[in-house]
Parts: sequence; structure tokens; C-alpha cells
Amino acid sequence: MSSERLVNPDLESQEQSIEGGLRPKSFKDYVGQERIVNNLRIAITAAKKREEPLDHVLFNGPPGLGKTTLSLILAAEMGVNVKVTAGPLIGRAGDLAAILSNLQPHDVLFVDEFHRLPKAVEEILYPVMEDNVLDIMIGKGPGAHSVRLKLPPFTLVAATTRFALLSSPLRDRFGSTYRLDYYSNEEISNILSRSSKVLAIKVEGTGIDEVARRSRNTPRIANRLLRRVRDYAEVIGDGILTEKVAQEALKELGVDQLGLDDTDHMVLKTLVETFYGGPVGLETLASAMSEEPDTVMEVYEPYLLQIGFLQRTARGRVATKRAFEHLGIPWDADDSTRRSQTDGSQSRLI
Ligand SMILES: Nc1ncnc2c1ncn2[C@@H]1O[C@H](COP(=O)(O)OP(=O)(O)OP(=O)(O)O)[C@@H](O)[C@H]1O
Ligand SMILES: [Mg+2]
Repeated sequence: MSSERLVNPDLESQEQSIEGGLRPKSFKDYVGQERIVNNLRIAITAAKKREEPLDHVLFNGPPGLGKTTLSLILAAEMGVNVKVTAGPLIGRAGDLAAILSNLQPHDVLFVDEFHRLPKAVEEILYPVMEDNVLDIMIGKGPGAHSVRLKLPPFTLVAATTRFALLSSPLRDRFGSTYRLDYYSNEEISNILSRSSKVLAIKVEGTGIDEVARRSRNTPRIANRLLRRVRDYAEVIGDGILTEKVAQEALKELGVDQLGLDDTDHMVLKTLVETFYGGPVGLETLASAMSEEPDTVMEVYEPYLLQIGFLQRTARGRVATKRAFEHLGIPWDADDSTRRSQTDGSQSRLI
């Protein structure tokens, strides 16, 4: 496996404090996602006017696009406290009860990785989200009975990278659901301009745009590349981020013209060289790469799908003609199996 993955969630903890520093704290600094921001602004203004908490909100979309950032901004703009937790941390119903019974009126409860909530906890959430009541079981065996507690009015803000895994009763209990999209190059450039000011990086010419173009339209990756390119500028150049410095640094970092890194190349090469372009099942593809299927699906695939290099079909993953061309491997147009799969009209998303 390649030495380092730029979108590796494991890097998150190491870099969290730096990332936290770059995280916008208000709508004013949050770039893009305009439709979502406009809707939230209206919802917040209306809720404040009525002196009510905001309706429960769900954010979904690939990693690094700004779900956590938006959730924290939402609490800040409402002027309320936020409690932060994550699906895997709420193992039992009792854990959820403890969190909920400590909430103050109008607080925001932010639950990250919402798709990883255990089923038993999910069921307790139904009456919580619908009627603001918590049903808890007291005792065991024949004497066990349930007690209903009234909760303070609060807002559940949830984030997930795997919307499809949420059951529909759970989805339906959110007042609004938003899907975050990939950013345009211009938006990423704006984010990087702000970040370079925060980090006091000297920029010249189109240095920032070069980094933006190769950031896979993802703010987290853009900020990470910026910090790496800055190191390079300081050590090799005279500390100034120019287009030339950016190009050289990105080359050293193994980031290609499209922003694909060694791991992306590994996914594509495995698909193309080992499985002749597919179709191949996710499990098989992942095991050929010694990776977890979930990691391949959640972290590696979304951008390759977005740029049309990969397709998820009923029969498995397929590399497209564009992927072959990018790797410089001839695409056999006569391969009818593959053609029918990449034809779009015949492929079904799963
Ligand atoms: N719209 C934006 N404007 C400016 N910076 C942004 C924006 N969205 C994200 N960022 C930057 O990208 C970083 C990653 O964003 P964030 O942690 O919110 O992503 P996420 O969607 O929660 O990812 P994950 O699914 O991995 O939890 C933030 O720390 C922030 O610096
Ligand atoms: Mg997050």
C-alpha cells in the first residue's frame, strides 16, 4: 500500500488541531454549498424568531466536504451549546440516555458517523426525534417496565458518509436533509486563499490555483496539500508559493494533474491490470488491495466515480475508458463485456 493517503481518515487525529485552526467558524467564512447555506440561514432566522430550537438536520456526502464544519457553524449561528459525539461511541441505549438527559434547552447534539449507530440505539431515537421523549427500561425480567422522560427541546445534527445505510424511518425523522457536493476549482481557490492568510503563507501568481486544481474538489485535501506545498516552498524555494513551486512539490508528493495520488492509481491499476477493467465485486477488489471494503467504498471510490473513472454496476466495479486512457493503457473497444457495462444506459447504480 502507498506510504500515505491524503484522504486517510487515520490522519485525522494527527492533523485535527491544524485542521481545526482552518475550520471556518461562521457562514461568512464558509465557501460554497450556497443552496444549503441559504436554506440554513432562513431556518435559523425563523427558529430564533419563534424562540424554538432548529429542526433536526442531517448532512451527508463524501469525506472532507465540510459536514462537521457546517454542523458546528450551525450551532454557533444559533448561539447555542454543542455536544459532539459519534455513532460508534454510543454503544448502548444507556449511553444515549446519559447524553440526552444532560442536554440544556435548545442545545445542538452533533452525532458524527450517524450510520454506525447500533440498531437498539436507533430505535430509542424514534420517539426522541418525534416527540422529544425518552423511553427507558427500568429493571429486568417480569418486573421490568418502561418510563417515559420528557426531554428539553433540542436539535439533533447528524453527519454521514453513507446515507444509503440509514433506515427510512430514521431518515424521515429529520426536518431537513442536505447532500454536500464537490466544490468548483474556483471555490477551492477561495478556501485556499483564506487558509494561506490564516497560516501566513506568502503566495505569488497562480500558485494557489495549481494546488486547487489538484485537490480533488475537496477542502480537506486542498488544505493538506497547501501545508505540504508550504513545507516544500520553505525548504527548497525561498518560502514563496509560486506556480512552479506548487508543481514541483505536487510532483514530489505523487499527486498527478487530476489530483489523483498513489492510492487512486492503485485502485485503478488493480481494476485494470488484475481484473481487466472489471466488472469485479467490491470485496474482491478490496482484498486484492489488502484494504477494507468500507474504506475503498467510502474513501477511495467517491472521487473516481465523480470524475467518471469508475462505475458501480449491478455486476461490480468497472473502470471506464477514461481511466484506461489516464493510465496510458489501451482500452479494448471490442471487449463487449466491458463496453456494455460502461455504456451508462445499461449500467445500474448499486
Ligand atoms: N465550505 C468550506 N469552506 C472553507 N473550508 C472548508 C469548507 N468545508 C470544509 N472546509 C475545510 O475542510 C476541513 C474538513 O471539513 P470537515 O471536517 O467539515 O469535513 P467532513 O465533511 O466533516 O468530513 P468527514 O466525512 O471526514 O467527517 C475543515 O477543517 C475546513 O478547514
Ligand atoms: Mg466530519
